[in-house]
Amino acid sequence: MAEVNLLAALPKGKRNLNARSTKTDEHVRVSREYGQAYFDGPREYGYGGYRYDGRWIPVARDMIAHFGLKPGDRVLDVGCAKGFLVKDLMQVCPGLEAFGVDVSRYALDHCERDVVGRLHLGSADDLPFPDGSFQAVISLNTVHNLERPDCIRALREMQRLAPGKGFVQVDSYRTPEQRAVFVDWVLTAKYHDYPDGWIKTFQEAGYTGDYYWTIIE
Ligand SMILES: C[S@@+](CC[C@H](N)C(=O)[O-])C[C@H]1O[C@@H](n2cnc3c(N)ncnc32)[C@H](O)[C@@H]1O
Repeated sequence: MAEVNLLAALPKGKRNLNARSTKTDEHVRVSREYGQAYFDGPREYGYGGYRYDGRWIPVARDMIAHFGLKPGDRVLDVGCAKGFLVKDLMQVCPGLEAFGVDVSRYALDHCERDVVGRLHLGSADDLPFPDGSFQAVISLNTVHNLERPDCIRALREMQRLAPGKGFVQVDSYRTPEQRAVFVDWVLTAKYHDYPDGWIKTFQEAGYTGDYYWTIIE
């Protein structure tokens, strides 16, 4: 289990904090439906437009190198949304069998053409695959969207599918000030913590894969 920034090559997307200055319970409720509003509606509900632009290609390259993935191997992206990373993993390593799971019917219905048939509708805490069936399981900014007990189940599922070959990135903060900014901004995360708290959660789940933090700075 190691802290490793596998998203280092991702262009720094600015989280527009001002766009949420009038956040309401209704924004939180609608965003948690993971429908059109969350992905492609106004910024107050989520992404404000979730479109493929190739930004995951260098990340895919780093993930393939990190896990030593090769053609014929299977990799799963939990919380794959429209399948951008799934697409780029297969583009960078032709012959790699990449798949995704997401709870959003909207995202799957609007996925990239190249990944049609590779994305499954389901929840991170109950993954419909056999034990040890993947060489790596990745989950970016997704498992914090579950309450802590369900998040623990999701981490156990990642561990079950690819023991010790996981990578999870989650919402976190290093100072009370960062925490206050985060809590003010956040829409979907139901469980979040300081890195130390997350590491205890990983241990409680028996998760021995790698991890990193999404921190608003
Ligand atoms: C912040 S987005 C991240 C999408 C993608 N991984 C990325 O980094 O661009 C969170 C994703 O988690 C999905 N999600 C939320 N709850 C989930 C659950 N219980 N199981 C699987 N996916 C879930 C949402 O539909 C959404 O696609």
